Amino acid sequence: MSSYIIQGGKKLEGVVKVSGSKNASLPILAASILNGGTTKLYNVPNIHDAQKMLEILKLLGCKVKKKENKVIIDSSNLKNYEIPENLMREMRSSVILAGSIIGRNKKATFSYPGGCDIGARPIDLHLKAFEKLGISIKEEGGKIECTCDKIKGTKIDLDFPSVGATENAILAACLAEGETIITNAAREPEIMDLEKFLNRMGARVEGAGTNQIKITGVKKLKNVEYNIMPDRIEAGTFLVAGAMTSGKIELINVVPEHIEPIINKLQEANCKIEVENNKINLIAPKRLKAVDIKTMPYPGFPTDMQAVFGAAMTISKGTSVIVENIFENRYKYMQELVRMGAKVTIEGRTAVVKGVKKLHAANVKSTDLRGGAALVLAGLATNGITEVEEIQYILRGYENLEKKLTNLGAKIYLK
Ligand code: UD1
Repeated sequence: MSSYIIQGGKKLEGVVKVSGSKNASLPILAASILNGGTTKLYNVPNIHDAQKMLEILKLLGCKVKKKENKVIIDSSNLKNYEIPENLMREMRSSVILAGSIIGRNKKATFSYPGGCDIGARPIDLHLKAFEKLGISIKEEGGKIECTCDKIKGTKIDLDFPSVGATENAILAACLAEGETIITNAAREPEIMDLEKFLNRMGARVEGAGTNQIKITGVKKLKNVEYNIMPDRIEAGTFLVAGAMTSGKIELINVVPEHIEPIINKLQEANCKIEVENNKINLIAPKRLKAVDIKTMPYPGFPTDMQAVFGAAMTISKGTSVIVENIFENRYKYMQELVRMGAKVTIEGRTAVVKGVKKLHAANVKSTDLRGGAALVLAGLATNGITEVEEIQYILRGYENLEKKLTNLGAKIYLK
């Protein structure tokens, strides 16, 4: 497994272009199955999770062409309806394929994605939504078989605004008979991107971005071209990288309103931020002020930014209280930061972080995607040489992280 070697102590300065969104591209890639034709996508990030999704699409019978950030998928000859267990285990978000496969084939077989490093992550809400749509579900030996004669529009009230369950329900309902209404739907911008994509394909989806989504089933979908939205979590990560190194960052290709809660918290921590159309400028103070955060479904502070922001709080002035409300086990990275001198107490969903003046370099291990990114930023903020091991987690979701940081003046190498 590879590591990053980071020589800390450099102020990050310069311009970063935000890549296409991981969490928007995964459901959109999955949705390419629905039209039984051609899907041309632009701005697809070059990350391991997107590559895995393309591998599964190929196994299902799609023809896939990829050049840099452009992907063309031809799903006219879909042969399989089973998601292989090993790939399901490797990438939890492959569960998002279930809704599209059922929508297209009226049957799908997949397995439980398995436990994950940030929490149990069950899929009960996905399965409940499928059942409501008239899909019967048989579970045996860890395999889940979904079948139906037809998918029938219905009312789905989600117990929790799960992003994945909302997306899966939308995907399964696009080609259904009649109207489906999802209440207590997740409101994340990636769901709005999925809606835009599907409607361009000829679907009739309304209300994404609110907690009620209406899908009017159509008989057939058509070929489509689409440009994936920018990654709001990558954007937030680079702003925090600037904030932790007393730097000056200009983000381009960003949608500022998607990251308002992150901007607000950075301002509260004394960063100067200017927003202009699709650009954000950040000037960091010498030392950040400690602020409290609570993760919440969108439009609240995103759980995917908790680790990166938590790393910033370890070197802030004062004490920060962090409450993680979405996943029950998302503080593993903190144990690694403690090896670098962070002062943290964790109890259940709450972490109390007492800011120290400086972290020191150490050998640390990534524990998950965002936790890994947090360790990289912590390494950049020390005055020594840090090794971040197990970077396969980071490569799942950040495109060219090393190169982008190098362009900002960081000293970071692959080992
Ligand atoms: C998506 C994102 C992930 C982000 C998360 C929350 C993708 C590919 N991933 O994950 O980066 O951190 O949203 O913003 O888009 N839950 C259940 N039962 C279910 C489904 C979810 O109990 O059937 C629980 C989960 O365990 C978790 C919470 O609901 O505690 C939120 O999960 P969910 O919104 O579904 O996250 P994902 O879609 O998996």
